[in-house]
Amino acid sequence: MNSLAHRHICVIVSGGIAAYKGPELVRRLRDAGAEVRVVMTAAATEFVRPLTFQAVSGSPVHVDLLDPAAEAAMGHIELARWADLVIVAPATADFLARIAHGLADDLAATLCLATAAPLLVAPAMNRLMWAHPATQHNVALLQQRGVHCCGPNDGGQACGETGAGRMAEPLEIVQAAAALHQHDALAGLRVLITAGPTQEPIDPVRFITNRSSGKMGYAVAAAARDAGAQVTLVSGPTRLAPPAGCEFVAATSAADMLQAVLAHVADCDIFIATAAVADYTVSAPAAQKMKKEGAALTLTLEPTQDILRAVAARPGAPFTVGFAAETERLAEYARGKLEAKSLNMIAANLVGRAGTGFESDDNELSVFWRGGEKQLGTASKQILARALVAIIAERYRAEVPHPG
Ligand code: PMT
Repeated sequence: MNSLAHRHICVIVSGGIAAYKGPELVRRLRDAGAEVRVVMTAAATEFVRPLTFQAVSGSPVHVDLLDPAAEAAMGHIELARWADLVIVAPATADFLARIAHGLADDLAATLCLATAAPLLVAPAMNRLMWAHPATQHNVALLQQRGVHCCGPNDGGQACGETGAGRMAEPLEIVQAAAALHQHDALAGLRVLITAGPTQEPIDPVRFITNRSSGKMGYAVAAAARDAGAQVTLVSGPTRLAPPAGCEFVAATSAADMLQAVLAHVADCDIFIATAAVADYTVSAPAAQKMKKEGAALTLTLEPTQDILRAVAARPGAPFTVGFAAETERLAEYARGKLEAKSLNMIAANLVGRAGTGFESDDNELSVFWRGGEKQLGTASKQILARALVAIIAERYRAEVPHPG
């Protein structure tokens, strides 16, 4: 279940070059299950045609405050009431100034005044306009009133300059929107997560590893953090920056990862094993770099200890969630692991094909527990992580007895 599923989101597009990212934002919000209505300022229609937004949102686009047809059907007050969340993307300097000062001189600004829904703005403008004290004052004023701000990001700008002022990417805005609706699902809980691959040494310069990039596990850690959990992430070697706000513990081999998990598991409420831990390690890694002898080389491998199984078998084990990476018979093998390892839940994905699973930005997940299952479909790992965390929170509350 996604925290944006069935939400009514009004996207306001104001007139900046970043308006070209608006259709992608609308598409991603709809992928996350939200219903979307689009309102454009007159200037925004100079950058992207309303018809484009109509096509991606599946609903007519609203531009005019005094449109008799729109006022008869869903006028600005109805639209303001309909919205669970209003997102302004891009939010230009002019638009931020107008809503900071309560102007109601077009439909978009009027809607911001008339709605009781949370407001999330994604500023986009030239770096000097963003840094200007007038803009900073307006943004501070809006934030004091509870308006949420996503971005802007640093980087190259349409005007040729470089600096802060680029609109946040559509996916970041979707994540910020989801976080607004999900901030307390795991509040007060400690969550321990494994992520990434392990490296099993052959000699001091060679190792056996796998294709895990850590993207899925890091997304799960960020989603659990956004859901209010205190997160510890035990990660194998990846190229990713540790998610902000999570305790980070680096591990290299399966044995290291086991040790790190055992050192942190005692006081955790939920354990999520996203890591692709090596099933075998080299029995006797060479102390020095092995020389090429010309003949075939045989390595003796021995099984590693299963971290997930060890955690689930502990007395007073946390709510334990495994992952299953399969190349066939996904549901059957995943349910087999759920039982064999005594897990509370398992998230299963097909691997070994392009576009999902290892390394890619997207994935396709199915989630199984005793007496239930849910297909989360194909989406970015961030969106799937949020949906998975929502199910974990729900199942945790259903299965773990709570005082009071
Ligand atoms: O990192 P990415 O590139 O984003 O890719 C994500 C992913 C494909 C790695 C991820 O979605 C995933 O499927 N992770 C589990 C990979 C795996 O090892 O699956 P498995 O079916 O072999 O193992 C089952 C479970 O046992 C997993 O939760 C695994 O973490 C755990 N395990 C396995 C072996 C071991 N020694 N210790 C373990 O804890």
